[in-house]
Amino acid sequence: MESVKEKSFDELVEHFLGLSLPQHLAGGVTLSNLPGDAQDFILRMLALMKHAGCSTRNFNSILILWLSFTIPNMLPRAWGGRIPPITIPGRHKKLDDFIAKMELTPGKKPLVFVDIGCGFPPVTTADTAQRFPDWQIIGVDRSFSDYVLYNKNKNYACYNQKDGFQYFQAQQGSTSPALYEDPKTTRKLLDQLFKDLLPLLENLNSLESETVEKDGSRLIKNHIRDFETDNLRFIKSEVINLKLQPAKVCRIMNMLIYFKPDIRKQLLHQAGELLDDDGIIIAGTNGLGAQSRYAIYQKEGDGLFPSQFAFSLDNLGHLAVMPWFTIHKDDPEAMLLAECSRAIRSDQSFWPEFRNRLDELLMDHEICQRKTDKYLHFPKEIMPFDKYLEKGFIIWHAMQKEGYADRAIDALVRAGFTAWKNPVGDIAVKPPADCSLF
Ligand SMILES: C[S@@+](CC[C@H](N)C(=O)[O-])C[C@H]1O[C@@H](n2cnc3c(N)ncnc32)[C@H](O)[C@@H]1O
Repeated sequence: MESVKEKSFDELVEHFLGLSLPQHLAGGVTLSNLPGDAQDFILRMLALMKHAGCSTRNFNSILILWLSFTIPNMLPRAWGGRIPPITIPGRHKKLDDFIAKMELTPGKKPLVFVDIGCGFPPVTTADTAQRFPDWQIIGVDRSFSDYVLYNKNKNYACYNQKDGFQYFQAQQGSTSPALYEDPKTTRKLLDQLFKDLLPLLENLNSLESETVEKDGSRLIKNHIRDFETDNLRFIKSEVINLKLQPAKVCRIMNMLIYFKPDIRKQLLHQAGELLDDDGIIIAGTNGLGAQSRYAIYQKEGDGLFPSQFAFSLDNLGHLAVMPWFTIHKDDPEAMLLAECSRAIRSDQSFWPEFRNRLDELLMDHEICQRKTDKYLHFPKEIMPFDKYLEKGFIIWHAMQKEGYADRAIDALVRAGFTAWKNPVGDIAVKPPADCSLF
C-alpha cells in the first residue's frame, strides 16, 4: 500500500478530510519543496483536523500560505535546532487575569511566581511582574542571549558571544511578516548590522547592560539586566537544576510543546517539585495571545493533578492555525482540544449557527467571504497581519459577548464532558481519566 508520505499535499487532504481541494486551493502546497519537519507538521495537522471532525472546507488560501512559508520558518530546524525564545508583550495577559482572580493572599513573605522557559527578551515575565508588584517573580530560561539587535523597524535578532546568530523575530504591529518569506536575506541584513554595531560597544567584558545606536538601530549587550526590578529576577538554568523557594504558581507556556510526551511529563514533574503545598502549574500553548490551550495542575500532597483543561473560543474558528500547531506526535493538549472540538462541531443545535454567525462577522469585517462553493474566499490583496489580528480580536470579543462560549460549553456537556466557563471566560473541561495530560 502506498504510504501517506508518498502522497502529494492535495492527495493527503483528500485522504484525511474526505474531499479533494477545490481548484483555487489545489496545488497550493508542494510537499517535496518543504523540509522534512514541515512535512511531518502537515501530517500531524491533518490527523488532528480529522480527529476534530473538520472537513476539507476548513482549508483556505491563508492557511495554505501559512503552511508553505510561515510554519517551515518557525520550527526549531529554522533556528539551528534550538527552541526559539519567541514571546511577545501581552501574550499572557489572560493567564495573569486568571491568577489575579484566585485572590491569593501573601503570608509574611511575598508569593512566588516562577515563569519557566520565559523566553527572551522576557517581555511576558516583565508584564507579570508589573501586574503583581507584591509577588516575587522569577523568570527561568536555559538560554538568555548575550546580544539583542533591534533594527529601525523594531524587528529584532538575538546573538551569542560564542555561537553568533540565534534567532530573529518581527515585532507585533510592524509591517514585516515579509521578514520570514526570505529568511536568508533577512539574516544577511541583520548579520551586517550586528557586525557594524558590535565594535561600538565599549565594555565587552562587563556583565552590565550596554546599548549602542546607529541610524535608528540598537545593539544591547546583557539585555536581560534591563528587565530586572525589585520584584523580578532571572535565572539561566535548565528546569532540572532549579532550586528555589516554594512557588505558588509556575507558568510553563509554549515550552512543553517542544518535547515528546515522556519528556514533557518529566519536566512537569520537575516543575511540580518547585511548588508550595497548594501551588499550581499553568502549562500550555498559545499564539500571539489568542488561540490558547492550557491545563491547570494542582499540587495535592506529593501528587500533581490536572484540575482543568481550558481553551479559548477562537480555537473553533475557520482561520485558526494554533489548534493544529504541534512539534511532536501525540501532543496531549492538541489531542484533547481536538476531542473537545469534535464534540462541539458535531452538535447540530450549536455548530451550524456558530459557523454562520462567524461567517457573517468575517464578511462584515471584510476579512473573507464564504461563497457558493462553501469555501472561504479572501480578497486578492492580503490584509496586513496587524490589521488582521486587530479585527480577529474584535470578532472573537463579539462572539464571546453573544454567548457562543456558554453554548459551546452546553454542547460539551451534552457530549458527556464535565465543562464550565473558567474565571477568564475560557471553555474548561475536567480532563477525562484516560487523557494523557500528565
Ligand atoms: C517559545 S519560548 C516561550 C516563551 C514564553 N514562555 C512565552 O510563552 O511567550 C520557549 C523557551 O523555553 C526555553 N526552554 C526550553 N527548554 C527548557 C528547559 N528544559 N529549561 C529551561 N528553559 C527551557 C527555551 O530556551 C525558550 O526560550
